[in-house]
Amino acid sequence: MHFTQRLSQVVPSVTLEITAKAKKMREEGVDVCSFTAGEPDFPTPPHIVQAAKQALDDGKTRYGPAAGEPALRAAIAAKLRRDNQLPYEAQNILVTNGGKQSLFNLMLALIEQGDEVIIPAPYWLSYPEMVRLAEGAPVIVPTTAQADYKVTPEQLRQAITPKTKLFVLNSPSNPTGAVYSPEEIRALAEVVIERDIWVVSDEIYEKILYDGAQHLSIGAASPQAFAKTIISNGFAKSYSMTGWRVGYLAGSPELIKACANIQGHSTSNVCTFAQYGALAALEGSQDCVTEMVAAFAQRRRVMAEGINQIPGLSCPTPFGAFYVFVDVSKTGLTSLQFSDALLERQQVAVIPGIAFGDDQCIRLSYATDLETIKTGLARLGAFVSSL
Ligand SMILES: Cc1ncc(COP(=O)(O)O)c(C=O)c1O
Repeated sequence: MHFTQRLSQVVPSVTLEITAKAKKMREEGVDVCSFTAGEPDFPTPPHIVQAAKQALDDGKTRYGPAAGEPALRAAIAAKLRRDNQLPYEAQNILVTNGGKQSLFNLMLALIEQGDEVIIPAPYWLSYPEMVRLAEGAPVIVPTTAQADYKVTPEQLRQAITPKTKLFVLNSPSNPTGAVYSPEEIRALAEVVIERDIWVVSDEIYEKILYDGAQHLSIGAASPQAFAKTIISNGFAKSYSMTGWRVGYLAGSPELIKACANIQGHSTSNVCTFAQYGALAALEGSQDCVTEMVAAFAQRRRVMAEGINQIPGLSCPTPFGAFYVFVDVSKTGLTSLQFSDALLERQQVAVIPGIAFGDDQCIRLSYATDLETIKTGLARLGAFVSSL
């Protein structure tokens, strides 16, 4: 069968491949320590589950407005005003099938053939593929461990050309766990304003912060920055709701209308009763978030300290999300060679950094129990010393 040119550019997910291999080994009875998870390992908090059950009992089982249930759109806007100092109203919000669809809708609405989209590397692996599917051109800007994997205002300025349409900012970051300080965010906002480009701020890990790190939404840097900002966020990571598929996009009413139009002809509304679970997540107690973050904080310490004690491996301390990004270049192996051999010889599954645009590193998720982390670190140490 002949597929489109558009699709020929798109790389299949390395993450899914390695995760599937580890899963198969497990099914065959092999004791695999997996650090591949891109999702919290906690159940969805009961009050959220209860709200969705109630919605089912109340007959919230029909088609709804493509842009989302009005009550949820209003609650998301209130959350953005309260938590992020972003003056949005319900008309600025589109409820989507996860953060993934919000970003995908945005690319389809904003990117013309050949438009450049600036993506700092390491990046979440779907960004460049979404840009390619929209027939745009991803412009990858590499960052370094020395700079804590953060793009500088100077790097951003230099990457901008007359074709630049959009800058993708992700803080806290997947895969590095880096969190831009408010000052760093303000400095990037200056460049966005000066060069008059759009910025999409992917804030899906905003609640998962450690050691007093602060999250500033770039849209809150100034009214000028707000005018150039689009927010993508969702419930998956903060509330352990990955399978629910509820996210959102926030932007000008025109942009939201355009994206709602795309969504109206593709998936239509997000599962109606799932939206009522999301509403409960926003309106209920936030203790569940605090508890999850406290558990992650403990695991993060064990993980980052353990990695940095292994001769030849190093990682910056992550200040957000639930990943460590580990430099393995001193072993002389590429990220894929390292990950493959580690799985084969020590049954430890990690994601090779090449998937995120950095072949010197691997990503380990600590969204798993402490016992697995300790065993995995011991195996990782044994693997590196055997090289
Ligand atoms: C940085 C980032 N953005 C967006 C998403 C999409 O999340 P979802 O579609 O599950 O809401 C993810 C998921 O892994 C992510 O890591």
